Amino acid sequence: LLAHFSNMAIKRVGSLDDSLHNGSIPADEGIYGHPEPMIHNSVAKEKILQRRSLQLRQQQQDWKESSEGKKMLEFRRSLPAFKEKDAFLKVVSENQVIVISGETGCGKTTQLPQYILESEIEAGRGALCNIICTQPRRISAISVSERVAAEHGEKLGESVGYKVRLEGMRGRDTRLLFCTTGVLLRRLLVDRSLKGVTHVIVDEIHERGMNEDFLLIVLKDLLPRRPDLRLILMSATLNAELFSSYFDGAPTMHIPGFTFPVRAQFLEDILERTGYRLTPYNQIDDYGQEKSWKMQKQAQSFKKRKSQIASAVEDALEVADYKGYSLRTKESMSCWNPDSIGFNLIEHVLCHIVKNERPGAVLVFMTGWDDIHSLKDHLHAHPLLGDQSRVLLLACHGSMSSTEQKLIFENPEGGVRKIVLATNMAETSITINDVVFVVDCGKAKETSYDALNNTPCLLPSWISKAAARQRKGRAGRVQSGECYHLYPKCVYDAFDDYQLPELLRTPLQSLCLQIKSLQLGSISEFLSSALQPPEPLSVQNAVDYLKIIGALDENENLTVLGRKLSMLPVEPKLGKMLILGAIFNCLDPILTVVAGLSVRDPFVVPADKKDLAESAKGHFAAGAYSDHLALVRAYDGWKDAEAQQAGYEYCWRNFLSSQTLRAIDSLRKQFFNLLKDIGLVSNNSETNNKWSNEEHLLRAVICAGLFPGISSVVVVQIVMQNKEKSIALKTMEDGPVLLYASSVNGSVPKIPYPWLVFNEKIKVNTVFLRDSTAISDSMLLLFGGNISKGGLDGHLKMLGGYLEFFMKPELAKTYSTLKRELEELIQKK
Ligand code: CDP
Ligand code: MG
Repeated sequence: LLAHFSNMAIKRVGSLDDSLHNGSIPADEGIYGHPEPMIHNSVAKEKILQRRSLQLRQQQQDWKESSEGKKMLEFRRSLPAFKEKDAFLKVVSENQVIVISGETGCGKTTQLPQYILESEIEAGRGALCNIICTQPRRISAISVSERVAAEHGEKLGESVGYKVRLEGMRGRDTRLLFCTTGVLLRRLLVDRSLKGVTHVIVDEIHERGMNEDFLLIVLKDLLPRRPDLRLILMSATLNAELFSSYFDGAPTMHIPGFTFPVRAQFLEDILERTGYRLTPYNQIDDYGQEKSWKMQKQAQSFKKRKSQIASAVEDALEVADYKGYSLRTKESMSCWNPDSIGFNLIEHVLCHIVKNERPGAVLVFMTGWDDIHSLKDHLHAHPLLGDQSRVLLLACHGSMSSTEQKLIFENPEGGVRKIVLATNMAETSITINDVVFVVDCGKAKETSYDALNNTPCLLPSWISKAAARQRKGRAGRVQSGECYHLYPKCVYDAFDDYQLPELLRTPLQSLCLQIKSLQLGSISEFLSSALQPPEPLSVQNAVDYLKIIGALDENENLTVLGRKLSMLPVEPKLGKMLILGAIFNCLDPILTVVAGLSVRDPFVVPADKKDLAESAKGHFAAGAYSDHLALVRAYDGWKDAEAQQAGYEYCWRNFLSSQTLRAIDSLRKQFFNLLKDIGLVSNNSETNNKWSNEEHLLRAVICAGLFPGISSVVVVQIVMQNKEKSIALKTMEDGPVLLYASSVNGSVPKIPYPWLVFNEKIKVNTVFLRDSTAISDSMLLLFGGNISKGGLDGHLKMLGGYLEFFMKPELAKTYSTLKRELEELIQKK
């Protein structure tokens, strides 16, 4: 069977080559391309554009004179950005690059792009301008475009539109487009000089996201070739100098905000003021030990920062002792532990505010959704804070329903104190106007990347000074406020000025693929011209990964697979799975797996029904030893149930989220269209799914996609330690690892396969594997790594390392046999 598939693969890889040479274009080209109508007669075209420009001017005039338009204008004039409008337009007209900073809420995102649009329309160039404003998050691109369209007196998709991955609203006449940074990068893929674009505005550059840093390198390179193009960088913090000097001393401009003064209090002030009872801290040694363990695990770049913080923490403890108390309370539960968030301390401060302070909403910054949830439960149990007639406790997160959202922005009635628990999302992305008190735990969950161990980590880490200032500023929107920083001042002093750029703390595979497909030359050379270049080791890891999966050849050139992967807006491993699902005609289940991995797990585990929920999931995985196949079965069952109008009941019975399943359903369709557009699948569902019931093949394709995962995926060997229960796993990089409790493989007594492939490993103290699928030796040998024709020897070499490490040399023999057979097949072809 495997030989048959290999033969088929070779044929299909051939057809991949053909479709490449036929010059097939990326799926989204139609949406990325310039929206000009196709008119070949240039005189006629000019006339049309002129006429349209005049129409636009008239339209704008009418709107400004309408009563609604006037009201809108009045609001817009009240924003701090308005005072700078003329100066801004002047700097833009006189310089190719400018850097703007201004506090959150001053009107950068909604006003500045609009000023350009309006002035172009006013000047009779409305139909000629083409402004692109990038946003780091989908949600802000969408909501900002809605707002700006409304301010402009139009429906979304007319002059103002948006485009995010796989979704958009823009028309032929859209002149101002809000898009995610990724969308602009993909447009650059097909249109390297951004033909027709007049202004590029890159927003929220202070966040230093990977895509933004990448975009800046590409734009810096493009500017000399497009002297008419204008680049505007916008930032919420005052580090404009860094960007200005990157662009050869581009002028900077600051928009003063209108926040009221906020008094900052650090832990020592809070303790003094609130009369916290404390007893000597006696666990410094424990902490010291843990610290050194952590140190060893950190990559070089983190070492410095961590040790600074660690010594500040020690100083803090000394200061505290000197004052006659330490940071541990008598009840000991509520210690200030530098490694965790003290719920009791937060509770204490909140009680103090509710009892003693003036009216005003409270915003609490936590690290993540888990913390927010447990804190909310914890506070609900409190007699004062849980009293709904006095306190309204709300949690704020990205996927809030609109009713929840409304509550967060509304003022509660009857003297009820609103307390909002939020993540760092509330630092810049959203603004709650009536906040007077901010409680800042000092940490944020940050992805970091440990290049030495090649592992992504998701650990709460200390925020930067810029973030702490930003958090503080959230208390002064409508009147003066108070900010409670729940850490000592000397710890704050040791914070970095700014957060480490994402480029320095994430795996770089997708980025490297993009560099190659944009033909930007040598990967390491290109990245060395970044604002802050990543470590060479991280770059090397990414390049090695792309070679292993067959996206780059030995000489770092893009392979056919690599080019296809760069056209799919998903991680390379998911893209590879999609492509192989299409090649091997087992499309439907693979679409489900990839969509599931891109959305989130539809299996829900309510805290009070853990066992029932786990057994429901286990039921789907019966005999499969695979979280991915369990998802496929659950999804298929849901589709059947939906067809009989029983979807809701099905979800309820099986502990599934119908909302997530619906999201998966819609993403599947989008992935299918992408594959169709690059010519990999036909319209004939029967052909596409000829082998969809072949579970071994599905495992093999999942293995091909997930192997070996620079960020995550490695093959693990299962060693039975105790027949009853524990399954010991290890990976080549990490040694022993654990499975998440929610994995179906985490609860089975025995797995009748020698290997697991997994999508994600994540370090939260110990290394955990999330979803996994059990696979056999031959699946690993034939599908793990690069199965295209050029890479067999490299494949063996690479696999050889694994086989040796896991003490399975006999598999190399099996491999040689398989390899010989494959080579014969190739020769025949
Ligand atoms: O980008 P920046 O943080 O400087 O501000 P902005 O997003 O342009 O928002 C300026 C003001 O517009 C905010 O203070 C809000 O009052 C208002 N706004 C709104 O009412 N609805 C939105 N969706 C976005 C902004
Ligand atoms: Mg903004």
